Amino acid sequence: MTHPVSRSDWPSWPQFGDEEAAAVGKVIRSQQLFAAAEVKQFEQDFAQFVGSKRAIGIGNATQGLHLALAALGIGEGDEVIVTPCSWISSSSCVLMQNAVPVFADIEPDSLGLDPSSVEQAITPFTKAIIPVHILGYPARIEEICEVAAAHNIPVVEDASHAPGASVRGKMIGTFGTMGVFSLQQRKTISTGDGGVICTDDDSLADKLWKLRSFGDDELSYNYRMTEFAGVLGQIGLRKLGPHNKERAWAAHFLSNAFKNHPMVKIRHPREHEVGVYYAVGIELAISDVASAELLAQLEQLGYPIRRVFPPLNRHPHFNPETPPARGLPWEHPSYTGSMRGVQYNKLDLPVAYEYCCGRVLELYTHPGITSTQLDQFTEDLVSNLPKAS
Ligand SMILES: Cc1ncc(COP(=O)(O)O)c(C=O)c1O
Repeated sequence: MTHPVSRSDWPSWPQFGDEEAAAVGKVIRSQQLFAAAEVKQFEQDFAQFVGSKRAIGIGNATQGLHLALAALGIGEGDEVIVTPCSWISSSSCVLMQNAVPVFADIEPDSLGLDPSSVEQAITPFTKAIIPVHILGYPARIEEICEVAAAHNIPVVEDASHAPGASVRGKMIGTFGTMGVFSLQQRKTISTGDGGVICTDDDSLADKLWKLRSFGDDELSYNYRMTEFAGVLGQIGLRKLGPHNKERAWAAHFLSNAFKNHPMVKIRHPREHEVGVYYAVGIELAISDVASAELLAQLEQLGYPIRRVFPPLNRHPHFNPETPPARGLPWEHPSYTGSMRGVQYNKLDLPVAYEYCCGRVLELYTHPGITSTQLDQFTEDLVSNLPKAS
């Protein structure tokens, strides 16, 4: 079968047009470029959208995760439970506070933290848990929050991939003490760089507010959002609903195409959850070597497809050949917990090693994608699978 649409026509992202150009032009003409009325408007819109009491615009989600830990007073000698399946920011934020990241394992359905592994990782030193809703699929956030509440530990949700996702009608990002979202160029609300933290806790929100912009009563930062990001965030938020619907349509289209396929499964959230398919998770029942070959072929054909994040505990930040000047936080004399002497790249995280080493690919199906393009992708994937012997 031949297709009239070339692979290179796959919709790109972000998709800015006249509305965004006019809004950015308005900011330029106003000569008010750092956070002011437009950021405030975005914060109000975002808080209303997720149903949180407060929202605080920031420069990016990495800053947001760092600010969240700073606002909780986490520092030297403390432990924070993190996931091995994520971008580095959801763990490096712990290092930024000179605290100790403790990796728990993930569970296979959501690729988010496994609540029972989280529970096992809790010690008297645990001061926060950072679950990540990877690719826009909700992590087991209700169960994680239950475990956290039983031990009185705050949860900081990394919802960078998941604006609009929900569990039983409650928005992702509002289950924890704080929820952090990324508005970076590739994310579903794209402001170039940008982020937002939501919380129902007024005193934490006030603290975040001061820490993000030169609060004088303690060491603070300049982590402000710009007015450009503020206007783009407002527009992106208005378009998010229809865009999320298109992404979900593409995921279900592919699901149908691979129905009953022995080697390919399109991943979906559970029935009571709404996922937003920031990327579609494609699970392969083939060897890691065959999956790497398939990925290389699909990339060469021009598809925006990647392997889901490799296990983070093997990242150089946790296994430096030459330790950072201030030392690894878990080797510091003030830390008396059980991570001392542990080699992070040898941690026992079987589910992460099973799922994050090639078994799951992430495909970006941006709004505007057509059934013809998805059919072509399906054919290209199938024709590059290993042949049954
Ligand atoms: C899961 C996750 N958390 C945090 C971040 C950091 O976001 P930002 O680029 O806005 O700092 C990213 C960025 O890609 C991410 O994927």
